Amino acid sequence: MCYPRIVSWLLLLASGWNTISPATAVDRPAFEPGDAAPISSKVSLVHLGSVDSFTITEQGTLAGRLLLNALENKDMTEAAAAKVVYHAIVPKEHYGGEYTALEWFCDYLIGTEDDQRAQLADRFHRSFFDFFAQNDYANLKEYLGRKYKLKEFADSGTNDGRDRLSFLEDFILFNNPRREEWERTSKIIECLKIQPGTTIADVGSGPGYYSFKFAELTGASGKVYAIDTVQNHLDYVQNVCREFGISNVETMKDRADGISLNPDTADLVFMCSLYHIIYTTSTEEVKDRFVASVKDALKPDGRLVIVDNAVVQDGQLPYHGPHIAKELVIGQLYYYGFDLTEQHQFIPQRYVLIFKKRT
Ligand SMILES: C[S@@+](CC[C@H](N)C(=O)[O-])C[C@H]1O[C@@H](n2cnc3c(N)ncnc32)[C@H](O)[C@@H]1O
Repeated sequence: MCYPRIVSWLLLLASGWNTISPATAVDRPAFEPGDAAPISSKVSLVHLGSVDSFTITEQGTLAGRLLLNALENKDMTEAAAAKVVYHAIVPKEHYGGEYTALEWFCDYLIGTEDDQRAQLADRFHRSFFDFFAQNDYANLKEYLGRKYKLKEFADSGTNDGRDRLSFLEDFILFNNPRREEWERTSKIIECLKIQPGTTIADVGSGPGYYSFKFAELTGASGKVYAIDTVQNHLDYVQNVCREFGISNVETMKDRADGISLNPDTADLVFMCSLYHIIYTTSTEEVKDRFVASVKDALKPDGRLVIVDNAVVQDGQLPYHGPHIAKELVIGQLYYYGFDLTEQHQFIPQRYVLIFKKRT
């Protein structure tokens, strides 16, 4: 190792930065992505803690029990009590936005007719509500019962039971009517400057939170592919499309190791809160195939947009969940042939990285 390199290593170590060395001899990019990621505490650069669902706390269980009682006994004083607990714990333990969604239901239950009408004025909020409220709140009761272990189900403890909880939990987190408040979704979408006619692949779409917003912007001359590995999410997207007459969204079941879009199809491939999963849980071969399929699907001048969760200190709200240092993503994608062209961050917990294929 030559002397200037030793000096730069010592400087990096002294400044408290962790070097992440490039694996192979590839030409250095001008902006040197992924060389170093900041370490200022023991917080891991990548963390996948929520794969088994978010932590259950005493206060969360209490609020869940109160809300479940309110639904079962039609007792709105219990809903008001649940609201008080959620209101107190949201600033302290805001697990992925779940509590704000449940507080939203409490507000609905204790609200006046005018309040309730206002809460359901947005048609996507209405369909979120309908999903949980149909059949006397069957899905909401089931979610609370499973998540907080307040009820036994025939499939509790089995894979089917876990899949069902995971589907309901994903749904409540992703399509949370209060997501804009913590995530600033509209700013994320605004910075993408989506034009009418754009073809967008929303990879890992979940139940379509972003897909439906993209569909409005790209219009009838554009197209949105909502792509996911979970059929229940795609079924929900299809039902909403049918209900609202949305004709420019098409669902696609993903193969997990890659998307099945035809080559040169997408102007924009969008992944929100998915790349940390690909990064941490895929074998190298699967990751290679997955990224290659994204690259193929993009038009030559298409954009790959990764929105993911930044490293934050413990207790920094409004989001506790899986995360990945953006430097890891930028570095890895560089070696997959993508150049970072823009980055944005509207809240500490979430960054937006925009890449182009290197030609
Ligand atoms: C954390 S969620 C984010 C959902 C959505 N992007 C959002 O922000 O509301 C990640 C989603 O990716 C899906 N997923 C996981 N692995 C996938 C893969 N290999 N291909 C496509 N989707 C995947 C999951 O089923 C889940 O719906």
